[in-house]
Amino acid sequence: MDLDSKLQNLLNEQINHEMSSSYVYLAMSSWFEETPYSGFAQWMYTQSLEETDHAMKFYRFLADRNAKVELMAIEQPSADYDSVLDVFKASLGQERRVTAQIHDLYSLADEVRDHETKNFLNWFLDEQVEEEKNVRDMIDRLELVGVNPVGLLQLDQEAAGRKPVAASGAV
Ligand SMILES: [Fe+2]
Ligand SMILES: [Fe+2]
Repeated sequence: MDLDSKLQNLLNEQINHEMSSSYVYLAMSSWFEETPYSGFAQWMYTQSLEETDHAMKFYRFLADRNAKVELMAIEQPSADYDSVLDVFKASLGQERRVTAQIHDLYSLADEVRDHETKNFLNWFLDEQVEEEKNVRDMIDRLELVGVNPVGLLQLDQEAAGRKPVAASGAV
């Protein structure tokens, strides 16, 4: 079944949203590179790679469905943050925006009765629950330690252990 044209456009936009996300996380990683928190830098770097991988999943899906892939310009990300907590709060905002985008995609796929796209999007629905949870957990603990350097360094060390989730194997 050919992809509905509106759905095709929205899936193409999602490639861009995921690549933009990847860029935002890379900017966050570079912000941490200038601080003592190499673990948080690692966390954001890993996150950036995962977002690129998400973009590749959308790319692959469009190509496999015989739809035209359209790549769009990626906006320059902000790298202006006040604190570790500030970066993670921005990350949560980023993930919530992406969750809303996936919901819009799912609603449209449902409307046009594209069951294959709905099935494809299920992975992303689960992924967004996981990502929002991970960031929220980190925010809760960052709020707990406040500006205590020992606590912050402990969380930083923990963040360094984050392993990338293998998705499409593209990166
Ligand atoms: Fe993503
Ligand atoms: Fe994400």
